[in-house]
Amino acid sequence: MHRGSILLIDDEDKILKALGRALRDAGHAVVETTSPRQGQRLLAERNFDVLLVDNMMPELSGLDLIREVVASGASTAEGRGDAAPGSGDDRPQIVMMTAHATVESAIEAMKLGALDYLQKPFEIDELLVVVRRALDHQRLRTEYRYMVSERDEQFDHYGIIGRSRAMEDVIRRAELVADTKSTVLITGETGTGKELVARAIHAHSAQHDMPLIKVNCAAIPETLLESELFGHVRGAFTGATATKKGKFALADGGTIFLDEIGTMTPTLQSKLLRVLQEREVEPLGSERTEKIDVRVIAATNRNLRQMVADGKFQEDLFYRLNVIPIEIPPLRERRDDIPALVEHFVQKHAQRTGRRIEKIDEGVLAGLQAYDWPGNVRELENTIERAVVLSTGPMITARAVSVLGATVPQASGLPSLKLRQNIEWVERETIRRALENAGGVKKDAAELMSISQRALSYYLAKYRLES
Ligand SMILES: Nc1ncnc2c1ncn2[C@@H]1O[C@H](COP(=O)(O)OP(=O)(O)OP(=O)(O)O)[C@@H](O)[C@H]1O
Ligand SMILES: [Mg+2]
Repeated sequence: MHRGSILLIDDEDKILKALGRALRDAGHAVVETTSPRQGQRLLAERNFDVLLVDNMMPELSGLDLIREVVASGASTAEGRGDAAPGSGDDRPQIVMMTAHATVESAIEAMKLGALDYLQKPFEIDELLVVVRRALDHQRLRTEYRYMVSERDEQFDHYGIIGRSRAMEDVIRRAELVADTKSTVLITGETGTGKELVARAIHAHSAQHDMPLIKVNCAAIPETLLESELFGHVRGAFTGATATKKGKFALADGGTIFLDEIGTMTPTLQSKLLRVLQEREVEPLGSERTEKIDVRVIAATNRNLRQMVADGKFQEDLFYRLNVIPIEIPPLRERRDDIPALVEHFVQKHAQRTGRRIEKIDEGVLAGLQAYDWPGNVRELENTIERAVVLSTGPMITARAVSVLGATVPQASGLPSLKLRQNIEWVERETIRRALENAGGVKKDAAELMSISQRALSYYLAKYRLES
């Protein structure tokens, strides 16, 4: 079942306690208060999936509170007009509880935007069903919003962030070359954004509505790579039970993205060279060649020039690929980009996880900017994603960045590289052991590590520790 965070407001202490207990037993994280004013403050501070509120309360009526929540939600919406079916802001789903005599107010609440109501007195089972339904709605809303933000990222500006001199050069070059059909070679360390740039080039090209086909040369065993790239006919080798199109043929009219080109074996390098020279492919086991019209973008984190000098990469192929070189510098050589990247990733992941995060601690930002980022932008994004998930308030603090005891990148005293590399292992082990100690009870495991259950779910999914 989907579990969520719930804010429960009822001025009657007894009812509050009983409902709170029932919801907790069902695995939800519950914050409860008898004061609607206190409820208002909580709502301003953090995000809840569901607001369960009584109507008749002396301080402030449930209806008035709902009116406020809906109004503030509307003003914090991103103003992109991308309202999901139902609503587009990041407020909780609202369920009002009301006594028999005031059922009209329940209807009023639903007109205002509440999802549902419970008529007092109600059974616990009824409550749980209504809450589950509200959580399902909330999850859909979050997923929808995430999809929209991904879409915007892809179609509006391709998500390339960076106003440093170096990145502006990269972007300008990518734009210039997009219109041509020239072969592009993108180089840069791991995580610098090579694939992102490749996709941006294709997306800006005249062939943008034709396919972009990616081949990760490092991920495919050599014996398969040839047929993967050029295709094969039935019976070409044992196991070739049907004719299969190669990636070059699939990319016909569009772009082929040859990732990790530096890992290609010499035999395949020669075959690829021939394809680039002749602009035709010969599927394995076929007598006929096929003409192809494909724009080639290759990428590598290796130094191909050096590999040529060492006799590990064919010189002719290198020059065929290196028609337009685009070199993406490592993040540590363009630290000016870090603040904008941090902001971008905070927004992206806050939105995806439904957090309300407004600021990042100055000291933390300085630390992030001083750190060397051996994993480049990918590592920065992972760090921010974790920090967002682990943040409890509207501010990202050093505590959230220092995940499970790993050193924070502080301006003074940078963490050792080794430590950063070990971080994932440490996280995984910590979680695994906590779960073990808690006898598999997630709630207890989360408590052991002083992290929220939500954070725990995130790690369980990340490390596939879910049973
Ligand atoms: N300038 C940037 N702006 C926004 N996001 C970026 C930028 N550079 C990289 N990223 C993000 O960082 C992650 C890694 O980027 P990408 O996969 O393009 O790196 P790569 O150079 O192909 O790495 P590898 O060599 O490991 O394959 C992606 O999620 C990408 O969206
Ligand atoms: Mg890549």
